[in-house]
Amino acid sequence: MAKKTLKDYDFTDKKVLVRVDFNVPQTKDGTGHIVDDSRIVAALPTIRQLLKQNATVILMSHLGRPKGPEAKFTLRPVAERLEELLGQKVHFLASETVVDASVKQAAAALKGGEVALLENTRFVSGETKNDPAFSKDLASLADIFVNDAFATCHRAHSSNVGVAALLPSALGLLVQKEVDIMGEALQDPKHPFVAILGGAKVSDKIGVIENLLDKVDTILIGGGMAYTFLKAMGKEIGTSLLEADKLELAKDLLHRAKEKGVRVELPTDGVIADAVAENQKTAIVSIDAIPADKMSLDIGPETIKTFTSIVKEAKTVVWNGPMGVFEIKEFSNGTLALAKAMAECQGTTIIGGGDSAAAVEQAGYKEQMTHVSTGGGASLEFLEGKELPGIAAITDR
Ligand code: 3PG
Repeated sequence: MAKKTLKDYDFTDKKVLVRVDFNVPQTKDGTGHIVDDSRIVAALPTIRQLLKQNATVILMSHLGRPKGPEAKFTLRPVAERLEELLGQKVHFLASETVVDASVKQAAAALKGGEVALLENTRFVSGETKNDPAFSKDLASLADIFVNDAFATCHRAHSSNVGVAALLPSALGLLVQKEVDIMGEALQDPKHPFVAILGGAKVSDKIGVIENLLDKVDTILIGGGMAYTFLKAMGKEIGTSLLEADKLELAKDLLHRAKEKGVRVELPTDGVIADAVAENQKTAIVSIDAIPADKMSLDIGPETIKTFTSIVKEAKTVVWNGPMGVFEIKEFSNGTLALAKAMAECQGTTIIGGGDSAAAVEQAGYKEQMTHVSTGGGASLEFLEGKELPGIAAITDR
């Protein structure tokens, strides 16, 4: 069902409550210093569009997973960064209960063209329970609700689902862009359509593999999850990551892929070491020759060659999950090589958020991708074909 968007409302002189995802990574030293402001930058188009119409923009977001009001999870540093990015005053409406009499008064006094940010919505325990009383408090601040927090759309909380039931609502530009690009890739992909799946666990990617089996031509599997598949094929994987309880499932997925004519490529070589740690002595071995006391922590050069040549020929590529332990330099080559291959691919290239988005950013290829999703869990659920509650709750067109 099509949902209302910014085009469906006249925001002139209206108070607009906008759910954004300002859950940004910060340094652990308690200073609140923002390490990566991509999610704040990603919200700017919607904020600017509303301001252009002389709306009053009241922003809300969660940050981290606090258990009640905790100073280290305050959104104040985010308000300061937003003020710099936007080039105008951002009123930070500080309250441990997020909405109270003084916040209501301050919100009511805001004029058209002004911007405010509420305190971390998770300071209120009702937020994650989609508590009707908290939803009502939030909704009382505005005339219209806009959801622009794609990364939170897989949650059903007061600040996205609860308020949507109480106010006329619309999807923001970021959510619309995420849904349009990823939705088109899944519904009407240009072929060859290649999925690159990695990360530690098969269990995290089962839903994605099942949904993609009917759509893709090729699945490239790397990362820790590859070793459960290799073991299922009868290979010896040394001390590499194994989910023993997923062996049968891995076998079944490989079987179903074969039946559907989907090509599945697994690593043919790997970078082995004693442990997941820095400064390890490493070696490159064939996947058939992993010693019993070693673990493979990245794809090797032969696999990189195979995977990158498939990616470069693709017309659509979706990537979720790194190829190795890319935070450690010795095991980052596979992930970085795939990021480069995607940058060189002429087709539609989509990075499904989380670790793969961080890797692409770290490698400096973000601008060369068609789309880098701001959602981790949300983009994973989207790729699983699930309806996201934060989107479903928005007013139908
Ligand atoms: C994310 O970072 O994936 C979103 O902000 C959601 O955060 P959560 O997993 O704490 O709900």
